Amino acid sequence: MKAIVCRTHGLPHTLEIAELPLPQLQPDEVLIKVAYCGVNFPDTLIIQNKYQFKPTLPFAPGGEVAGIVTAVGENVVPIKVGDPVVGLCSWGGFAEYVAVKSTRVFRLPVETNLLTAAATFYNYATSYHALKDRANLKPDEKLLVLGAGSGVGLAAVELGKQLGATVIAAASADEKLERCKSKGADFGINYSMHDLKESVKEIAPGGVDVIYDPVGGTLAENAIRSIAWQGRYLVVGFAAGSIPNFAANIPLLKGGSIVGVFWSGFAEKEPVRNGANMQQLIQWHSEGKISQQIYKTYPLAEAPQALQDMMDRKIIGKAVVQLV
Ligand SMILES: NC(=O)c1ccc[n+]([C@@H]2O[C@H](COP(=O)([O-])OP(=O)(O)OC[C@H]3O[C@@H](n4cnc5c(N)ncnc54)[C@H](OP(=O)(O)O)[C@@H]3O)[C@@H](O)[C@H]2O)c1
Repeated sequence: MKAIVCRTHGLPHTLEIAELPLPQLQPDEVLIKVAYCGVNFPDTLIIQNKYQFKPTLPFAPGGEVAGIVTAVGENVVPIKVGDPVVGLCSWGGFAEYVAVKSTRVFRLPVETNLLTAAATFYNYATSYHALKDRANLKPDEKLLVLGAGSGVGLAAVELGKQLGATVIAAASADEKLERCKSKGADFGINYSMHDLKESVKEIAPGGVDVIYDPVGGTLAENAIRSIAWQGRYLVVGFAAGSIPNFAANIPLLKGGSIVGVFWSGFAEKEPVRNGANMQQLIQWHSEGKISQQIYKTYPLAEAPQALQDMMDRKIIGKAVVQLV
């Protein structure tokens, strides 16, 4: 089968399109003929050997696919050949076929658009878990989303509104903030032009209840100063490249919490709760209540360019690699 192959760790230009053998199906796995594969920031890290997961070389990156089931392992019960599914595979998705553990495969309604499905569920599963399970976000609370034009950021904006919060989107470009407004953001802050803390203070003088942070670095060290009494700071990722050093006096003085978010760990350790979250998201997706903003669709051979565009901060919402 055709695949984008990582033979040695490195930047996107070191990837090549090549033939790989079909995956060997394990008893608890589902074989998916990939229609589309979503592009996510962890893909850019995994090929450089900088991510939590370290697949054996050679491997295909690509952590989120939508497609049709072509075979199921002997222990797999609810999923059948021919089902349209989304598979949250962590890697292996930039390929014509991928084998995915059945607890990470979710059946979709037959009429589902596989392009938007491949663009939506990893980001929304992460942000839903973050806002609902980790922050316990309540209606009428104030939510600040950093890197709000990112895949997970736009999902947090849309889900924050869905959960009844007032959403303040913060990003480095006005174009990104326009997309956030189209997803329901109540306010926008361009942090490449304005001081984040002062801008938040104008909108929310008492601070914000929840801060969703996929960026990290110095932005995070500044952002935590805007937290309200008993606020929750969600540590989602470090796209800026450095892990923030928080001043511990701030959570002390605000009676607040710094809360970690790791969706893959949650999916692995708590598959029943994750499955319930996924069913909710699939229902909202089929009702048209949630859908990721698609930036661009790339053919398989251009998947390395999609990863490079992501590293260059060009992507607003989601890039998707097309295999059909
Ligand atoms: N914890 C979890 O379970 C989980 C799950 C999925 C993803 N993540 C993490 O969430 C983060 C975002 O993922 P994503 O797929 O949504 O990525 P993405 O769409 O590429 O967004 C990353 C955002 O980070 C900001 N950024 C700041 N400095 C950057 C830099 N040097 N390079 C690239 N981006 C930079 C950019 O926003 P501005 O230009 O507006 O600043 C960009 O929109 C990543 O750190 C990823 O590892 C965590």
